[in-house]
Amino acid sequence: MLKIKNLKVEAEGEPIIDGLNLNVQKGTVHAIMGPNGSGKSTICNAIMANHEYQIKGGKIEFLGENITNMPTNEISKRGIFLIMQNPTEIPGVTNAELLRAAMSERGIKESIFEFNKHLKEACEVLHIDKSFIHRNINERMSGGEKKKNELLELYMLKPSLIILDELDSGLDVDSLKEACSFLNDYKEKTGATMIIITHHTNILNYIKPDKVHVISNGKIVEEGDYSLAEKIEKLGFNGAFNMSEVGTDE
Ligand SMILES: Nc1ncnc2c1ncn2[C@@H]1O[C@H](COP(=O)(O)OP(=O)(O)O)[C@@H](O)[C@H]1O
Ligand SMILES: [Mg+2]
Repeated sequence: MLKIKNLKVEAEGEPIIDGLNLNVQKGTVHAIMGPNGSGKSTICNAIMANHEYQIKGGKIEFLGENITNMPTNEISKRGIFLIMQNPTEIPGVTNAELLRAAMSERGIKESIFEFNKHLKEACEVLHIDKSFIHRNINERMSGGEKKKNELLELYMLKPSLIILDELDSGLDVDSLKEACSFLNDYKEKTGATMIIITHHTNILNYIKPDKVHVISNGKIVEEGDYSLAEKIEKLGFNGAFNMSEVGTDE
């Protein structure tokens, strides 16, 4: 479903990702784990074609189509949804306005009545106050509220590939459990594919990955099954992989 081949990414003239390969099959859950500063968020930014990041080599394919450097709204329309580590605030645009526009761009036709009904359903499932619907996107929300707000948008836009960049940051234990149970349900109902990016193994106790990739200094240094995450939990990144040898500053 998602194929990344020999990806090289720079920001401000500095190389960050150096020849990354990743192959994600439809319906699977992949975890990308790595210490702070290893390049995890940069992968997300490169996939979504954030202009602060320059792709210097390689290719990103989604459902057989080359999406490398495609405009972000086009990538999103094709079904990729990124929950950013720090979701952006968009003052002046409400959730309802954004979702209505995004759904119509995707050809999802709903009457205002149906749309409101679905939004209310989403709030109930996520235990979100209904006032969120008419609030400006992520404005003056706590870290955890922002993450829930992103999940509300996800529920409405029905992506087929979900990328979670440090979903647990900002969420308390109960909210993290709730968010993960929501995502597991969504996956079961829609067959969605997930990439979970994290430096903690915590979230992987709630959403079990089929495959774990370990990144250090912009490169995948180890791949395996869930047991890799358990190894990291026990020994830490350095203990498990002697990362100092592969050049990380962590
Ligand atoms: N926009 C940027 N401009 C310059 N350097 C950046 C930018 N974004 C990230 N970096 C650098 O790239 C490295 C990897 O960052 P990041 O991908 O955010 O790591 P992670 O998400 O794994 O913690 C860090 O050294 C960081 O300082
Ligand atoms: Mg990050």
